[in-house]
Amino acid sequence: MPDASHVMWGGRFAEPMDPRLDRLNRSLPVDRRLWREDLATNRAWVHALEGVGVLTAAERDALLRGLDAVATRLEGGAAEGADDEDIHSLVERLLGEVAGPVAGKLHTGRSRNDQMATDLRLWSMTAIDGLDAALAALGRALVARASEGLDLLMPAYTHTQRAQPVRFAHWALAHAWPLARDRGRLADARRRTAVLPLGAGAIAGSGFAVDRRALAARLGFAEVAPNSLDAVGDRDFTVEAVFAATLAAVHASRLAEDLILFSTAEFGFVALPEGFTTGSSLMPQKRNPDALELARGAAGQVLGRLVGMLTTLKAMPAGYQKDLQENNVALFEALDRSTVVALLLEGVVVGLRPVPERMAAALDAGTRATDLADLLVRAGLPFRDAHALVGRLVRRAEELSLPLDALPPAEIRALDPRLAAPLAALGGALEAVERRTVEGGTARAAVLVQLERAGAAFAA
Ligand code: ARG
Repeated sequence: MPDASHVMWGGRFAEPMDPRLDRLNRSLPVDRRLWREDLATNRAWVHALEGVGVLTAAERDALLRGLDAVATRLEGGAAEGADDEDIHSLVERLLGEVAGPVAGKLHTGRSRNDQMATDLRLWSMTAIDGLDAALAALGRALVARASEGLDLLMPAYTHTQRAQPVRFAHWALAHAWPLARDRGRLADARRRTAVLPLGAGAIAGSGFAVDRRALAARLGFAEVAPNSLDAVGDRDFTVEAVFAATLAAVHASRLAEDLILFSTAEFGFVALPEGFTTGSSLMPQKRNPDALELARGAAGQVLGRLVGMLTTLKAMPAGYQKDLQENNVALFEALDRSTVVALLLEGVVVGLRPVPERMAAALDAGTRATDLADLLVRAGLPFRDAHALVGRLVRRAEELSLPLDALPPAEIRALDPRLAAPLAALGGALEAVERRTVEGGTARAAVLVQLERAGAAFAA
């Protein structure tokens, strides 16, 4: 239980808080990580109060000095084991201890409602920047691997079945582009986060006409929330950040899944860096892709946070409600987790070793069946007929246990003599990828254009 002298609202209460309420109500263990943001908000508020004549210049300086001393104490772990209700109560108590009675003036015209909304927005902007930097690093790692693997060929899969040959670069960039879109979503979310709630008071607007534009400028906000009632209850920015983080985590899980599959003995397309794998306590031969499995699993938990947040917000009345406090931990964990996952995958991608011979061995002639149909089309057949004809060829090759391009001439003639010339011109996987010069295709020239664009998307 907080010491009665540690709560901000004791005056009208005759009875102490029930310990069962205290257990759920006390948010300090979660929101103590907002201490830097809370101090920034407090410093800005000191200036705002001086601006409206609530504080003298001397009081302003005393409070600013006091907040510096509080920063030192928090830096030294003053939040450790503290019994205060939340970060705002803790900061106010510590300020009283270091600055004396003048500390009692700081909460003038302000509420923990507009304060918390402001702290959370400041925290979110920093967290968004951190996730963005991690995604950019992962994107750069994928682009670097793509650039090295430009001339490495592998099968691409649909339904986890061999489909068509692509460049390894094309595969790596297929996992980079979603991250570029994630970065766009984060930038968009950040714009709507940089809107200042402070000055909204509890709900109706501060009773003191503080200069909110000056507050916004001082704290790094681009805009001022236009409605105090909306400002204290609006957590859209947390949902947007967590959604962007969730989608990034989902993208990370897809990359992880590909790499888990490709690193199995059955595929063997890539070898994972040892530092990102673990052994088995029983089976001495095992090397498990734990980093990738953790990344894959984390996506589910981040998604759960998003759903939990939206469910808490649904049907909440206008203005601040304590329900909102439950969402803070979800915001923190979703952003933390997705950032750690992106950083982890960057390490895996940097240390990845492609195995060209295993990729080449998987490029059987069947992956060029579409090319054969295309060649028949070029010779004048309607695509449907070409598709059916190649289908019969595939079936016959399967019956004879031969690759599709190795049937004896007599077999080909028996199926359809029009197959002979396209089969002779079919070529290997390289010819197949080089037929895909279309923009966004996997031919060398097209991938080079793509590489340049991807490089720019992750440059900063
Ligand atoms: N700890 C609270 C939260 O996280 C701060 C706001 C409290 N406001 C209130 N009216 N009790 O939401």
